[in-house]
Amino acid sequence: MSNMEVSKQLFNDRIKYLFEATSYAKPIIEHGSGSFVWDVDGNKYLDVNSGQFCMSFGHGYVPFIECITKQMNKIYHTNTATLSPEVFEAAEKMAATTDYKLSKTMFLSTGSEANEAAFRYAKYITGKTGIMGLDHGYHGLTLAAQGNTMGGLWARPYVPDAVSVKTPDYLHSDKNKTQEEFYAECFKDLKEKFNEYGNNLAAFILEPVIGVGGMISLSMEYLKEIRKFCDKYGVLLIFDECQCGFGRSGKWYAYQKANVVPDILVTAKTMGMGLPVSAVTFSEETAKKIEGKLVHFSSHQNDPLAAAIVSFVIDEIKNNNLLESNREKGLYLKDALEMACKESDTLINARGDGLMCAFDIDDTIVTDYRNFSKKFIKEMEHNGVLIQAIRQGRTFRVMPNYYITESEIDFLQQAIIKSISQVVKI
Ligand SMILES: Cc1ncc(COP(=O)(O)O)c(C=O)c1O
Repeated sequence: MSNMEVSKQLFNDRIKYLFEATSYAKPIIEHGSGSFVWDVDGNKYLDVNSGQFCMSFGHGYVPFIECITKQMNKIYHTNTATLSPEVFEAAEKMAATTDYKLSKTMFLSTGSEANEAAFRYAKYITGKTGIMGLDHGYHGLTLAAQGNTMGGLWARPYVPDAVSVKTPDYLHSDKNKTQEEFYAECFKDLKEKFNEYGNNLAAFILEPVIGVGGMISLSMEYLKEIRKFCDKYGVLLIFDECQCGFGRSGKWYAYQKANVVPDILVTAKTMGMGLPVSAVTFSEETAKKIEGKLVHFSSHQNDPLAAAIVSFVIDEIKNNNLLESNREKGLYLKDALEMACKESDTLINARGDGLMCAFDIDDTIVTDYRNFSKKFIKEMEHNGVLIQAIRQGRTFRVMPNYYITESEIDFLQQAIIKSISQVVKI
């Protein structure tokens, strides 16, 4: 059982000065190293979220700290119209990760900002205003991004030009339908929506592996079908790889598993190693139509520090064969999750693409899954693991840092088995 004295005291006495944007988790984190973090009470936790899925190489990674310290001592911010050598270098490295199919990058700060920029450029290029995405897609919470996040459900004011189509999410779909029936419905919806809105659409945005919306790998056929529709209606295709990109899936980008190339690629999270770094990368042809036009501008555009970080992350992945190792470790992790699920009647659907794994609560058995998952997360904390839920508590994401070890994965597996048996008893 973990000690929580200092955490409790901070929550009781000092939370009044902090805006409570969410109901914050109780351990207050003081420091981290590798796959672990420690709270102010001295408890140690395996961080399978790797921060907010950003700490590609783990906490307190010394070579990274050295890299940013070196850059900070040189220069870390310039004005928006000025470049530094680091920016040229990082942009070239970005192009190489796409096999030079997408070759023009601008660096920004957050994933939401990069999606906003991508939308703005798409609207400018096509002269159209609509953006279509999947109803389970997550693209951030700035206004236009939110209009295309989870079907625009919480976008206020309503974003009029956002359209969503049914996500091919067989795992979480109507259990009475066969997989073929379900996919047929999704393809039908896609076709109908393109017929109806295609001529008004500037872009179609999707995550090749849907993260927040359920940890769903989209089929290659589906990606190919969307590419065809985009070409037919003159719609730019944006792949949002903020979560699944930068090696997490075992490829530089998850879309590289299908022979489909987007017009615009958006990346963030792991590329910044915990600092706010994102990018929009255009195909040469797309970039030609907008270069030199003042369409998107930001105080943190092409910062030398961001560029140095991107180069560092790319080099680290390349030099240490992390794409291959993420694929291998991903299989080990998926197996471990499958075994843990087998130990309980209430956990199902262990799945994953590289180090982007998940499992679900069986909501046909556990109907009060919101409370159940809160208890499970708490038990996991007591058993030394930090984990988060999505889909109102029905799905748990496991997206650790790339240097997680097999013994740490074993520890996670045992914590799941122990925690679920404790929750079932409560
Ligand atoms: C796929 C995807 N796109 C965009 C975003 C938004 O990124 P940020 O929170 O950095 O704005 C996220 C964040 O979770 C994401 O998962």
